[in-house]
Amino acid sequence: MDKGQGPLTTCVVTGAAGFVGSHLCERLLSLGHTVVGVDNFFSGRPENLKTFASHPRFFFHERSVTETGLLTALKDQHGPVFAVFHLAAIVSVPYSLERPEETFLVNTQATLLLLEEAEVLGVRNFVFAGSAAEYGDRDRMPLTEADANEETRWLSPYGEAKYRASVAVASRRGSLCGVSLRCFNIYGPRQDPSSPYSGVISRFVNMAVAQRPLTIFGDGLQTRDFVFVSDVVDAYCLAGLRDDKDDIKRTSGVFNVGSGRATSIVNLARLICRLTHRPESITFGPERPGDIRHSTANIEAITRVLQWKPRIGLKDGLTRTIQWMRGSG
Ligand SMILES: NC(=O)c1ccc[n+]([C@@H]2O[C@H](COP(=O)([O-])OP(=O)(O)OC[C@H]3O[C@@H](n4cnc5c(N)ncnc54)[C@H](O)[C@@H]3O)[C@@H](O)[C@H]2O)c1
Repeated sequence: MDKGQGPLTTCVVTGAAGFVGSHLCERLLSLGHTVVGVDNFFSGRPENLKTFASHPRFFFHERSVTETGLLTALKDQHGPVFAVFHLAAIVSVPYSLERPEETFLVNTQATLLLLEEAEVLGVRNFVFAGSAAEYGDRDRMPLTEADANEETRWLSPYGEAKYRASVAVASRRGSLCGVSLRCFNIYGPRQDPSSPYSGVISRFVNMAVAQRPLTIFGDGLQTRDFVFVSDVVDAYCLAGLRDDKDDIKRTSGVFNVGSGRATSIVNLARLICRLTHRPESITFGPERPGDIRHSTANIEAITRVLQWKPRIGLKDGLTRTIQWMRGSG
């Protein structure tokens, strides 16, 4: 898979101090690009930037994506922007339920403004961080991109706000290629385990490494589609670094990013116990309201159009995450 396609460019990454955004910045820098990172540290952390903060081709701006004229100001300072990777968002579903207006402002409205500005400034690719939450609760698996539509019953403002932004990005016409990557459950190093609502893998690995029992909410038979962060970064690069001018129509759109496999939470917990060499110690708590039962991606579209495929299996990805958690704990 050639992830360094196209010329060396200047890329803007919003949400640069976040879990996924920081990995993306690192990769873009390693491919030779100049990276302009933006983050207001709402949920991101300065330590996520540590390994590349002083890189000569990395520039960081502590600003909010809700500021008008943000891209223009960045272009004035750093020159023409080839790609915008827009990952900054309110990522907490419970927070979005408490503050729907703020969620729509940050997750939808700011995306629309950035998109418009990007078009005016001649940005080539705009890649948005969509989410499996855009599907609401569906019975039929695996989920294909058309399964999120105006009939969807979203379980949270987070899901609806992401959907509205995804549709706007993907339906952009003209010289800008708009791609929404509808990511399923991303996991890997740097994912913050401290919140009860953070990714289940980071919570479980944290508990296992600390020799605490793993707590499952519900019966554990609910399933998720887990995708390792470096595979997600591959997808961002394939979407954002392409320069085939005639292909805009074909590559614009919404694409699922997942493993295409369903893993039950109880099997995940068992596997983490095995990989951390500890006896199975699993407890069960009450089901959490609003939790969906199943979620699996159909990844045919992204495989066909962007030639993306996940490369890191669950066992391998978990082993890397456990190593990181042990090192940083
Ligand atoms: N982690 C997952 O499993 C997953 C799955 C699907 C989609 N996503 C999406 O991927 C993106 C990255 O998620 P993540 O897991 O890295 O979360 P994260 O919380 O680590 O990253 C989000 C970043 O956005 C920043 N941010 C929030 N509001 C901002 C604002 N107004 N201005 C500037 N920066 C702001 C935060 O400080 C944070 O650094 C998000 O858009 C998220 O919705 C994540």
